[in-house]
Amino acid sequence: MKGIVFTEFLELVEEKFGLEMVDDIITASELESGGAYTAVGTYKFSEMVQLLTHLSERTQLSVDDLLYTYALHFFKVIQRSYPGLLNTYSDPIELIASIENHIHVEVRKIYPDAQLPIFKIVKRSENTLILDYLSSRAMYSFGLGLMHESFNYFNKNFKIDFEKIKEDGTYVRFFIVNTDENSESG
Ligand code: HEM
Repeated sequence: MKGIVFTEFLELVEEKFGLEMVDDIITASELESGGAYTAVGTYKFSEMVQLLTHLSERTQLSVDDLLYTYALHFFKVIQRSYPGLLNTYSDPIELIASIENHIHVEVRKIYPDAQLPIFKIVKRSENTLILDYLSSRAMYSFGLGLMHESFNYFNKNFKIDFEKIKEDGTYVRFFIVNTDENSESG
């Protein structure tokens, strides 16, 4: 997992829960990195799992809720760091449908060792998208948050439901609707 995911995560933890919480979850975890991350480095995903688990225990928020909230923050990071990638698009469905074949392809050029999920388009129309998420990291709540922010970015209303195809969250189907366009067409 790329260092930027760790540095931005710890920044958000500090902002929401304070520096003591950052120290606390780092101390509680067994981290090969020692908890010192650089944005361009690469670290074990198991370090993120430990940090999330300890934060979850201390805040009584589920790991999924934490990942969702983190995604809202991470979208801002994306906006700041890769505005060109987002501005290739004029519509959220188009953007989300293009993660696999364009956006994450570009991400991999920047970070060849990035661990990215697989997105498979099941069905697509102008205002709806059924998309499968596959990843051993089961970060579908992170994906959900990024999808919500993709709609907000274009000031569009949406409805996004999902169904776990595998209970552990490594295979999840998303049902995405741009509700603005639907109401316009009746
Ligand atoms: C992971 C970049 C858009 C879904 C990542 C990572 C980066 C990244 C750097 C971390 C890779 C690693 O730690 O090794 C970007 C950029 C985007 C973008 C620059 C837009 C310009 C999106 C969108 C979604 C998405 C719109 C919506 C579903 C995910 C998920 C992960 C991820 C779920 C976590 C890894 C996993 O589940 O296995 N992305 N991303 N990304 N991205 Fe994106």
